[in-house]
Amino acid sequence: CGIVAYIGAEKAGPVLLDTLKRLEYRGYDSAGIALASNGSMEVLKAAGRISDLEIIYRSRGEPEGSIGIGHTRWATHGRPSDENAHPHTSGSIAVVHNGIIENYLELREQLRDKGYVFTSETDSEVLAHLINYHYSGETNGDLAVSVSRALKDVRGSYAIVVMASGIPYLVCARKDSPLVIGIGGSSNYIASDVPALLPYTRDVIRLRDGEIAVVHRDKIEIMDISGAVREPAVERITWDADAAERGGYPHFMLKEIHEQPRAVQETLAGRISEMEGDVRLDLGLNQWEIQTLQRVSILACGTSYHAGLLARYFFPRTAGLPVDVEVASEFQHMQLRPGTLLVAISQSGETADTLMALKKAKTCGVKSLAITNVVGSSITEIVDATIYTRCGPEIGVAATKTFVGQLVALFLLGIRLGRARNHLLPEQGRRLLGELSRLPGLIQAVLERRDQIREIAQRFSGADIYFFIGRDILYPIALEGALKMKEIAYIPAEGYPAGELKHGPLALITEGTPVVAFATCGEKIYSNMKEVRARGGEVIAFAAEGDREAAEITDTVVELPNTLPVFSAVLCTVGAQLLAYYTAQILGRDIDKPRNLAKSVTVE
Ligand code: G6P
Repeated sequence: CGIVAYIGAEKAGPVLLDTLKRLEYRGYDSAGIALASNGSMEVLKAAGRISDLEIIYRSRGEPEGSIGIGHTRWATHGRPSDENAHPHTSGSIAVVHNGIIENYLELREQLRDKGYVFTSETDSEVLAHLINYHYSGETNGDLAVSVSRALKDVRGSYAIVVMASGIPYLVCARKDSPLVIGIGGSSNYIASDVPALLPYTRDVIRLRDGEIAVVHRDKIEIMDISGAVREPAVERITWDADAAERGGYPHFMLKEIHEQPRAVQETLAGRISEMEGDVRLDLGLNQWEIQTLQRVSILACGTSYHAGLLARYFFPRTAGLPVDVEVASEFQHMQLRPGTLLVAISQSGETADTLMALKKAKTCGVKSLAITNVVGSSITEIVDATIYTRCGPEIGVAATKTFVGQLVALFLLGIRLGRARNHLLPEQGRRLLGELSRLPGLIQAVLERRDQIREIAQRFSGADIYFFIGRDILYPIALEGALKMKEIAYIPAEGYPAGELKHGPLALITEGTPVVAFATCGEKIYSNMKEVRARGGEVIAFAAEGDREAAEITDTVVELPNTLPVFSAVLCTVGAQLLAYYTAQILGRDIDKPRNLAKSVTVE
């Protein structure tokens, strides 16, 4: 979901609609705004896209109001509908909310007993009534105090903005869900994410967990839970607004795929120390702690989970450290033993499943590290140290450049741990890092194969099912390739360890079934490719330049530049991204906003 709010000299409606559009990637099954003017309030809602809401706004004669709040919703409680769309109202109060109110059933009963009538199926509506209860009761119409009292009864996660008709300020608060305040000249803004605000201001304050802010058009007051006032630190956003726009590409996803050489350069920048064959990274651990590490435990979801799986192959080799990787939503409270380094990987740094698992795991008292793309995101507040992937904002829902950034960050981490533990010799470190530095150029070479990959996509765009197979370090890439095909092309796809194909899925291979084989890591995969051919399946091989064996098995070979097998994982990834992208384009899919998915899922 995405939240925006505006208070200032201009008409709020157009600002809210524009900023909401910039947040659509956070979820988009319904949207709404509330506008206040002259002591009254107008609320507009629509199931569907922001453009549907815009039509309603126009049809109502573009209502006045220089204070307003807005929301795009990604359904969690209750289906997408006008009633369930935010803002939710109660009396003169209107609220937009991201997150989940865990005790909403209990609160709803209490509020019903007090006479409040509920009109939606959402957990968020309780916030409106609860705040109204305090506002119309003992707080004497003090909105900030009413919000803070209401939040004391709430369990769960939230980023909220509250307005009341006749009140010339907004109140916002957060817990486990992001919120930023943008400072304009005679206007102020609130949003769940910085890119929404960039056309209006570059000066932002990031609200911290547990804080409440009172936002007037010309001043901002921030208080913590105890009511103590904090002098806000204003951060200047230096990245370009264009960086968050599509540029010349038809989709953000294609743009982001093409940004990967640059993204890798950024991830590597200033971190390689060639002389020592080592990596400069602050891991929040001293030399002794690194040397006595026993294992690494990784938590992540979705694409980030696949990045984690790659470390399971890499770290034992470079650092002599065993790795376990868990899907965050399945994380059981296993006892992490002392000597475990916990690594949480999350592009957004806001995924609720990952944050919750991380908090649980941290109770074991182990050291923790985050790998994320978003500076100042919630995950960074929980861990001992953070490695930023520095890929720039990613708008396409399907992760591309940030996945590659995560892989590169994990390569750096594996090498650092290996060098610090004397598992890797300086010359081994130098060799790996030398090859890693070549990656941006090698990725560029894969991008230049786009026409060939587009033709392959065209040939198989009618497929009922796709297979992606790989061995060893390329097995996670097979999973990621299949995920991309499912996410954006809506073609069922299986990612499989190549050797496991014969233990079941081979039954699904019939005449013409496309099987993508990542063949840059060892020879064993050739026999698996032959098994597929023998059953009439079509093998699409991503193989190293000049690989004769692959060319003998199949006519469809995409040649990738030569590099170490481990780094070929990145090149295979880029090939798989392009294949999924072009397939989705040929099938006319909504590539940047695939159905039922959201970029950042801030609920468990
Ligand atoms: C959502 C996105 C996925 C992403 C996953 C984890 O489901 O649609 O593309 O991989 O969240 O996101 P994170 O920000 O934690 O990496």
